[in-house]
Amino acid sequence: MVHSASLCACLSLLTVLSCHSHVLPRLSFPIGNPGRSLTVFTNPDVYNTTTLLLSNDEGTLFVGARDAILTINVSQSDAMTMEKKLDWSPSEKDLVDCAMKGKMKMDCHNFVRVLQVLNSTHMYACGTFAFSPRCIYINSKTFAMAIGPSGKPEEGRGRCPYDPYQKNTAITVDGELYTGTVADYRGTRPVISRHLSEGSHVDLKLDDTLGWLEDPTFISSTYVPSEEKVYIFFSEIGKEYDFIDKFIVSRVAQVCTSDVGGQRTLQKRWTTFAKAQLLCQADQELPYNILQDIVSLSPPEGTSEDETLFYGIFTSQWQVNLGRSAVCAFSLKDIKKVFTGHYKVLNRDTLKWSTRVQEQMANPGECGLHNASDNTLRFVKDNFLADKSVRPVNQGLELVSPDKSYSNIAAQRVRGAHGRDYTVLYLLTESGYLHKVVLLKNRAHIIEEIQVFQQPQQVKNLLLSVSKGAVLIGSSEGVISVPMSNCSYYWSCAECVLARDPFCGWDPVMKLCTDMHTHDHLVQDVDEGNVSAQCTYVSSMSRSGQSRTPSTVCPPGEVLSVSLNEVVHLQCPEASHLAKRHWERLNSQLSPKIYIQSDDGSLSFVATPSTLGHYLCQTVENGYTQTLLVYHVKQKSNPTILPATPNHPPSTPSTKAGNKTPVHTPRLIAPRQTEPRPEPDDVDPTVTLKDSPVATTHKSRNFTRLLGMDKENSRMTEPGENLQQADKLSYFQELVVVSVLLALCVSALLMIAVKSLRHLYHGRTVLEAPSSRRDAENGGSATPQERESLRGHSPRLEKRNGQAPNGQAHNGKSPITLSNSMLNSSNGHLPNTPM
Ligand SMILES: *[C@@H]1O[C@H](CO)[C@@H](O)[C@H](O)[C@H]1NC(C)=O
Ligand SMILES: *[C@@H]1O[C@H](CO)[C@@H](O)[C@H](O)[C@H]1NC(C)=O
Ligand SMILES: *[C@@H]1O[C@H](CO)[C@@H](O)[C@H](O)[C@H]1NC(C)=O
Ligand SMILES: *[C@@H]1O[C@H](CO)[C@@H](O)[C@H](O)[C@H]1NC(C)=O
Ligand SMILES: *[C@@H]1O[C@H](CO)[C@@H](O)[C@H](O)[C@H]1NC(C)=O
Ligand SMILES: *[C@@H]1O[C@H](CO)[C@@H](O)[C@H](O)[C@H]1NC(C)=O
Ligand SMILES: *[C@@H]1O[C@H](CO)[C@@H](O)[C@H](O)[C@H]1NC(C)=O
Repeated sequence: MVHSASLCACLSLLTVLSCHSHVLPRLSFPIGNPGRSLTVFTNPDVYNTTTLLLSNDEGTLFVGARDAILTINVSQSDAMTMEKKLDWSPSEKDLVDCAMKGKMKMDCHNFVRVLQVLNSTHMYACGTFAFSPRCIYINSKTFAMAIGPSGKPEEGRGRCPYDPYQKNTAITVDGELYTGTVADYRGTRPVISRHLSEGSHVDLKLDDTLGWLEDPTFISSTYVPSEEKVYIFFSEIGKEYDFIDKFIVSRVAQVCTSDVGGQRTLQKRWTTFAKAQLLCQADQELPYNILQDIVSLSPPEGTSEDETLFYGIFTSQWQVNLGRSAVCAFSLKDIKKVFTGHYKVLNRDTLKWSTRVQEQMANPGECGLHNASDNTLRFVKDNFLADKSVRPVNQGLELVSPDKSYSNIAAQRVRGAHGRDYTVLYLLTESGYLHKVVLLKNRAHIIEEIQVFQQPQQVKNLLLSVSKGAVLIGSSEGVISVPMSNCSYYWSCAECVLARDPFCGWDPVMKLCTDMHTHDHLVQDVDEGNVSAQCTYVSSMSRSGQSRTPSTVCPPGEVLSVSLNEVVHLQCPEASHLAKRHWERLNSQLSPKIYIQSDDGSLSFVATPSTLGHYLCQTVENGYTQTLLVYHVKQKSNPTILPATPNHPPSTPSTKAGNKTPVHTPRLIAPRQTEPRPEPDDVDPTVTLKDSPVATTHKSRNFTRLLGMDKENSRMTEPGENLQQADKLSYFQELVVVSVLLALCVSALLMIAVKSLRHLYHGRTVLEAPSSRRDAENGGSATPQERESLRGHSPRLEKRNGQAPNGQAHNGKSPITLSNSMLNSSNGHLPNTPM
């Protein structure tokens, strides 16, 4: 399927270019950039600090690590100090046993995977304990191991995975522990269970006779007090879509905290377990079906808990969306509605799902079924999969990642100017960047990206310490605290407004960009980022300033003294990734015959009497033009001229903006002009380009070469002419590159075409009927990409012919035939209604 894969790659590339180019981060801070200073906790004796829990006062961070649990003082946002360390290692014998089982030595440690506050005096922790999970009580005050009610170490089976690389989730409610994990050594028996229950409130687990879970990956869990329910989020095989091989679906499941199991039927089993599909899908596109992380965001004060939102990151199983991920938001209201609706019916004999209408014996998922009749409980036992899927609020995706996959998410509501609330998401990319995103009315704006890791890291969760203004990230190599904001980075009103950061506002009196908390009258425009409307005193150098105050047309800037015929090379720093740079001369156009404007923002030209004068380096962002730098290029007459104060922000934006490609600061150019010239023939007014001072930098040397000059024939007669030639030459280069690319592309397409023709011919003879059926099944309205990507799934073809490729997954099932009525039920996406 090479050709379809490459075609998909092509298509996805096109999609990235066409649709998602606008979600670039505005600013990018590489690691170590002073604009966003990270605080890092590392300790040579502590490893794998991945499980985090923040105390209620946000002053202490509890960390579940390898063979240890720590407390870190995070009350200062710029320091993280270890306060206590509780060692908890497997014994020699445990290690020997682990090694005997054939496990790697580095995995035969105790990796702490559950760390929860149990009650006012105790905490509870579980670890993998060399592939033999254990749990302990911890005295919160002394941070020492405590004796539990049983008086001996607790077994961790069903509470913590055996394998440290397996995902799990756990939450305590009223002193009871709700977990989702695998409960066996091989990792094949998933359970959602309740532990540490007392009295008539017995420990409960999942009834596993009917396959309530299908090879799930647990992601997270949350307790909703008003519902008295625990919601568990995970992804698993969607058995209701059994015409697609191993179609992964994302789920939300629920159990009631009041559940005590049935009396005969479902004894010590959940009577309130129900699950539903979470569908993160845009119209006419394949769903992003695999949940990676999900967090809840409580509603604004004074609104119903139904407005609670769950923000999830989803990736896709299909090539078309490979390497990207989407963020979807689901509301508690919608989840509740789906759970109180109809349920799919499982045929106990064939283990197949049907939509047959059945007499409603009870409302599945309803709390308080403990003394219901056996009949009712049997009904509940069969009806655990909600018929409808939970669809995202606003009927769409909040955001699609620009190019990297997201792995972890945190969400926060931030109060901006005029009492307006904004949702801010923190998204960690797999490559180690933290994206800070504000959700606007119809789109998302990535305020910035901050590099937090050099190497990609496995991260369990992001925690927010709102009072300290920090995002806490636990990784194998340490704990990192990232500031939520640092407004002082924005040096002007325009930059402050363009940032659209709800944390930041411009103080017109103090003339600085500052935190919204500091006072009430700050200027901010998160929704529009409209500088002209907000920054009313507009700087004299901006366009509107020019027209208003002609007297300030020539502001003091960088003075550059040059000799005639010298090549001048001016740099324009990048203020943001969303800004376009361009050059302007006062009162005249920049003819491309004389000036070369490069993609890196620089301007090159030859000094002649007519090219002397002022040059403005400007950026245009969101319809607003601002002048970053002004150069005054003048003829060298008096060698003692010193550069004037440059008219740009105190520190050069290029370093602040963290460009990946470093830009030479203009200051480097100016002093060079005054350096004594090395060669005597430089006195000659017809200077050779090669010996001209600017030609001493790499860039200008290339420029010289581009001009096609060397020492012998470099006497310039007409600068404009030569530059014209340079233009032609550079276009020629581009032409060559473009032609080669075009040729490559055409040949690649030809190959693909030939291959697919051959494949089609081949395919027709074997699989004619299935292929047309598949198209129909795809809803008819499927886009070519969708069809193409589905076509890439060859296992389905085998299955459609009645040869289940994977015996384990389809035991006891007859081959599937698709009926027309079923096909009609699909509406533009993968059918929701199973057979
Ligand atoms: C954390 O450190 C601060 C100052 O460094 C100190 O005042 C505070 O008491 C410490 N917190 C705890 C819980 O020890
Ligand atoms: C907290 O739980 C522990 C362990 O079950 C128990 O010993 C302790 O009494 C509990 N504390 C409170 C205040 O309930
Ligand atoms: C239901 O069971 C509880 C104990 O679990 C019992 O106290 C109650 O009387 C029962 N209610 C009914 C209607 O049987
Ligand atoms: C523990 O950390 C090391 C690197 O420090 C990493 O290679 C290993 O995968 C981590 N183990 C787990 C279980 O996360
Ligand atoms: C904020 O940025 C400024 C420079 O722009 C830097 O000096 C300061 O240390 C930063 N503060 C934090 C908390 O990152
Ligand atoms: C910005 O605000 C000004 C004045 O309120 C308005 O004229 C202009 O259209 C706005 N620009 C944008 C891009 O919304
Ligand atoms: C520019 O010249 C330098 C030094 O000769 C060379 O290392 C670099 O690769 C050149 N760059 C281009 C784009 O030709």
